[in-house]
Amino acid sequence: MSERRGVTLWFTGLSGTGKSTIAEIVGPELERRGALVEYLDGDVVRTHLSKGLGFSKEDRDTNIGRIGWVASRLTRAGVVTLVSAISPYADTRAAARAMVEEFGSFVEVFVDTSVEECAKRDVKGLYAKAFSGEIKEFTGVSDPYEAPTDPEVHISTEGQTPEESAAQVIAELEARGLIGGAVPA
Ligand code: ADX
Repeated sequence: MSERRGVTLWFTGLSGTGKSTIAEIVGPELERRGALVEYLDGDVVRTHLSKGLGFSKEDRDTNIGRIGWVASRLTRAGVVTLVSAISPYADTRAAARAMVEEFGSFVEVFVDTSVEECAKRDVKGLYAKAFSGEIKEFTGVSDPYEAPTDPEVHISTEGQTPEESAAQVIAELEARGLIGGAVPA
């Protein structure tokens, strides 16, 4: 029987801030330290569990409610779950936190990048379409993003590499005693 306490790391922020990229660096480091890791990425969840949902407030809340529920079950099982989803609404994030905290720890990671910087990077080409009106209800352009007011980790990605951002997350988890120490190579 596992003695581990589950943790959910909840990466929130605009599209293209690097949430998934940072999570994909943090996850393997946690595995090296003995954690069982699972990922719930909004883009991926929307191809399975949330297939067919759009981007109205109602659909986003349904998506985040599902992700929060699965994260709470994984947390109960002692897994470290890395969620990467815009999750633009503060009340919906709070509901996810409440579900997870029934069983373990919830660490909100605000991946903070300005709309201007995301639009400049425009990795998926979506900001250009959002500004032209081709994509409606686009977070940060034509749809709200309620920034966290008191996240456990606040990452400003501008002028910082994804590796540096990941190190910031790991350091915070260590400081909170949520993960084991680094394993010598
Ligand atoms: S959430 O709002 O429900 O949390 P989620 O993280 O699952 O969003 O999905 C966001 C991804 O969907 C973005 O990274 C982007 O690739 C894509 N996307 C497509 N349309 C939109 C839109 N209108 N607003 C935001 N993201 C969109």
